[in-house]
Amino acid sequence: MTELVTQHSSKIQHGSWIELRTNHLLENLQTLRNHSRQTEVLAVIKANAYGHGLSEIANALAGKVTYFGVATLREALELKENHPQTPVFLFGHLLAHEIPAALLGGITLSVSSFEKAKEISELSKGLGRKTPVHVKIDTGMGRMGIPIREALPAIEQMTSMKGILMDGIYMHFPTAEKEDAFRETQVREFGLLLQTLEQKGIIFRYRHISNSAASLTLKTPIVNMIRPGLTLYGIYPDEGLKETAVFQPVLSVKSRILLVKKINTGETVGYGREFTAKTPTIVATIPFGYSHGYPYAAWKKASVLYQGKRYALAGKVSMDYITINFGNTPVKEGDVVTLMGEDQGDRITAEDIAHWAGTIPYEIVTRLNSHLPRLVTQ
Ligand SMILES: Cc1ncc(COP(=O)(O)O)c(C=O)c1O
Repeated sequence: MTELVTQHSSKIQHGSWIELRTNHLLENLQTLRNHSRQTEVLAVIKANAYGHGLSEIANALAGKVTYFGVATLREALELKENHPQTPVFLFGHLLAHEIPAALLGGITLSVSSFEKAKEISELSKGLGRKTPVHVKIDTGMGRMGIPIREALPAIEQMTSMKGILMDGIYMHFPTAEKEDAFRETQVREFGLLLQTLEQKGIIFRYRHISNSAASLTLKTPIVNMIRPGLTLYGIYPDEGLKETAVFQPVLSVKSRILLVKKINTGETVGYGREFTAKTPTIVATIPFGYSHGYPYAAWKKASVLYQGKRYALAGKVSMDYITINFGNTPVKEGDVVTLMGEDQGDRITAEDIAHWAGTIPYEIVTRLNSHLPRLVTQ
């Protein structure tokens, strides 16, 4: 029995898996601190830590950041259970039925409306608690947050609510990577609001506006915490930022060849018969399809790494498999291919795959199936 359990937890047992280099995660964190000159960090680990694995990433960051930031109550409660010492910030706007569990769980909540603040305060008071909240201000994202023109009176009234502790204030950029007049106006208006509030004696312990891109390019004394996600994982939100700082990818995706075939000239592979062998060709099947998170749209441009060389896909991505055109390179069942990550000096990044699929790297990593085993290699 013990042997079976050991085998199950070994990568030998899996067709496909994710490897995580948490030393890169910690180096990326330090790079963000150096560039932003901020020590307080709200680490954005929502969406299963951008697909990397919530528990693995939280284990690596626990005790090293000011907050964990997530979007769903489920993730917030899971984090609180496993890391009671690290404050958890919930970005989401909670539905009424979710609030009691969030309060009992000791989660720091985001407030995007006066009414929600009141609802949280009343319930919190009833439980004999004072719940810490961060007020979200909408300065141009147009999504969550109290519109900036309504913020001053709303916050003044909130200060008299007995069940909440106004611990933080924040906003979000829709175009953080652009150092333009729009971003400047957002910062200026937010700064003016903070100044006016301060004159009225309303001071927030945490003030944060910077995602990855702004953490690297915006310097302002009005804030005292950064809120990065993508760059923590070593992925760039924008090509232009590659000049600014060096981040190392944390995640690799690997898979073992299941089956090898030599097909004849003129034979086809996969749905739609999109691949036709021009010469006798070695085709290998890999147990990683769109259900695992490989983007269907990438198939025409995609490749994988095998022993340091790139090989293109043979035909379309299926639900559970991709097929690789190995030409006349001999491969065998059980050999490892790298779908994302480094192999003998070459590297396929989340940005590469996003480019092949016509999407953004955020989507590539967050869609990695949570059932894939995550192996921490460092
Ligand atoms: C409110 C908020 N702050 C910070 C982040 C982190 O952004 P990034 O991953 O670009 O650093 C996100 C990401 O979606 C977000 O929604």
